[in-house]
Amino acid sequence: MTSTGSASAPTDSPMLRVGVIGLGFAGTTHLDAFTALPGAEVVALAGQERERLEELGATRGVPNLYEHWEDLVARDDLDIVSIGTPNALHHPIAIAALASGKHVFCEKPLASTGELAAEMVAAARDANRVLEIAFNHRRRADVQYLKRYIDTGPLGSIYHTKAMWTRRRGIPGLGSWFTSKALAGGGPLIDLGSHVLDIGLHLLGEPRVTSVSAVTYSELGKHGRGGARGAKTTGSGHEFEVEDFASALLRLDNGSSMQLEASWAGYTKDFDDIAIEVMGGTGGARLFIENYATDDTLRMYTDVEGEPVIITPEVHVPHGHHRAVIEEFLATVRSGLWNTSYGEYALHRSRVLDAVYESAREGREVSVA
Ligand SMILES: NC(=O)c1ccc[n+]([C@@H]2O[C@H](COP(=O)([O-])OP(=O)(O)OC[C@H]3O[C@@H](n4cnc5c(N)ncnc54)[C@H](O)[C@@H]3O)[C@@H](O)[C@H]2O)c1
Repeated sequence: MTSTGSASAPTDSPMLRVGVIGLGFAGTTHLDAFTALPGAEVVALAGQERERLEELGATRGVPNLYEHWEDLVARDDLDIVSIGTPNALHHPIAIAALASGKHVFCEKPLASTGELAAEMVAAARDANRVLEIAFNHRRRADVQYLKRYIDTGPLGSIYHTKAMWTRRRGIPGLGSWFTSKALAGGGPLIDLGSHVLDIGLHLLGEPRVTSVSAVTYSELGKHGRGGARGAKTTGSGHEFEVEDFASALLRLDNGSSMQLEASWAGYTKDFDDIAIEVMGGTGGARLFIENYATDDTLRMYTDVEGEPVIITPEVHVPHGHHRAVIEEFLATVRSGLWNTSYGEYALHRSRVLDAVYESAREGREVSVA
């Protein structure tokens, strides 16, 4: 396969050539996943930490190293550009990569605003290239188990869902790009809330969110409290310009509701915990992932002969959810069936997050565009 042209056809090249941008947690995870998976090779890497760039280039055998993403995207021999940069760069990198015929694998959130996310999806459609997003937590084995369980119907009609990711003390780099409104687009809502919103909507079979009523607070970060220990992120020197807690009630087009909550820091019991609850007419379920736990995370609730019963499935969660989503992405690229993979589902999530911020700002319920 070449990196130009607009016809979609199954690619018969033995190797998909990948350029990865970003050297932090995200970029390194992408690099390692693409390197480990058959049928792909990382031939270019970009990032601004010179030493780390050279170290990763040497240890992972990547021959072409760049400090600036523009130089990597300008290569005409890449099939795929993988984006692991601060949120504000997702849009310009994806637009440039798609316009030059590359498929794009992008970190969450798709963009820092819904408007920019919409431009990215339009660019993928115009170029007829895949735009996939790293919603890796959805690929956890316990989430997938719960999804299959819900789909078989024992919970009945689900009327309410809770989707929460809350931390006691986990602002990822106080003063880094994460806490700059311009570079991140928002705080824990856009960072962690995007993941649990994704899980919630996925579990429910992709209903649309119609309206949102929300609050956000910035109570700890702006006073220098709540920073994660040992957080290493680029771009220090920023003020704390985003929320450190967000809570929203979402109305869905299937008649149900969802409570979405995200915090980087707060005086609560939670350390770094994901909680997803679904409440149905004949049963319920709770996924509680305490500090990235990989076992004993799932409970189902029902009645047997009129008495309450708790079901405790044994589901072990292996690591490697990024690898799972990248493997799916590579399969889509290879399939040639690109016209259902322009990132629309992630655009809806970005629009919901926009509505949450707007509702909190204006103190009223807001419709989702
Ligand atoms: N899916 C997940 O589980 C997960 C986890 C962590 C982060 N993320 C996402 O990944 C992205 C990056 O987060 P991170 O924690 O890795 O950040 P980071 O700050 O650790 O790394 C950002 C990287 O971007 C590079 N960069 C910045 N400007 C650049 C430029 N002009 N040209 C080339 N490279 C440039 C930096 O040099 C750095 O290597 C964010 O969108 C974040 O939301 C996702």
